[in-house]
Amino acid sequence: MYTRNKTRRERYDDKKSNAKTYPIGLCCINFMHDGNLGYLIRAAACFGAESVHIIGSVPDRNVLNPLSGSLYDYIKIKKYSSPMAFLDYVRSNKIRLVSAEICEGAEPITSYRFDYSSDLIVVVGHEESGIPVEILKNSDKVYIPMPGPGFCLNTSQAANIMLYEAVKQYEKEKVWTLTTCGKTKLTA
Ligand SMILES: C[S@@+](CC[C@H](N)C(=O)[O-])C[C@H]1O[C@@H](n2cnc3c(N)ncnc32)[C@H](O)[C@@H]1O
Repeated sequence: MYTRNKTRRERYDDKKSNAKTYPIGLCCINFMHDGNLGYLIRAAACFGAESVHIIGSVPDRNVLNPLSGSLYDYIKIKKYSSPMAFLDYVRSNKIRLVSAEICEGAEPITSYRFDYSSDLIVVVGHEESGIPVEILKNSDKVYIPMPGPGFCLNTSQAANIMLYEAVKQYEKEKVWTLTTCGKTKLTA
């Protein structure tokens, strides 16, 4: 429950002690608009993603923190110089990639089943150029159906929907138990 007699940071810190973290990361590619990166960090921290992976340049904390609803310090941020550097990290850590993209071979999110047998990273694309092809080639591809006249969501909005669905499925398919040290732990 939110209390308005506390600062935002105090409320985050209260919530953090009981917060869940899922083996899910979120990756984005060198956004044009810093706002989108801030919204992505916010989404990751709200849904309990473990990390945000950024390919390309990253603005300073003092730019991103206000844009993220002051959640910059509550999420791990990893940076990569190129898509290939990101793919090297993915391969060496045996991570499954799920790219959100409207492209050939993409499955609707309504039927896609996230596979949690390994850690996963959800990828969303650049505002104009989308997701680099070398990442798409190494990913499952998922699209969000859009029955209205618009043909493409804002990239951070797409990330919100992907994370919501990934966490929903995780909660449905896995059981959380309380460990002796009081932390929640996943049991398959
Ligand atoms: C504005 S779109 C990029 C459009 C780009 N002009 C293109 O043709 O690839 C930015 C990103 O949002 C995500 N996105 C937007 N709408 C989506 C949808 N309906 N399903 C899945 N991803 C979507 C994708 O990751 C996409 O790369």
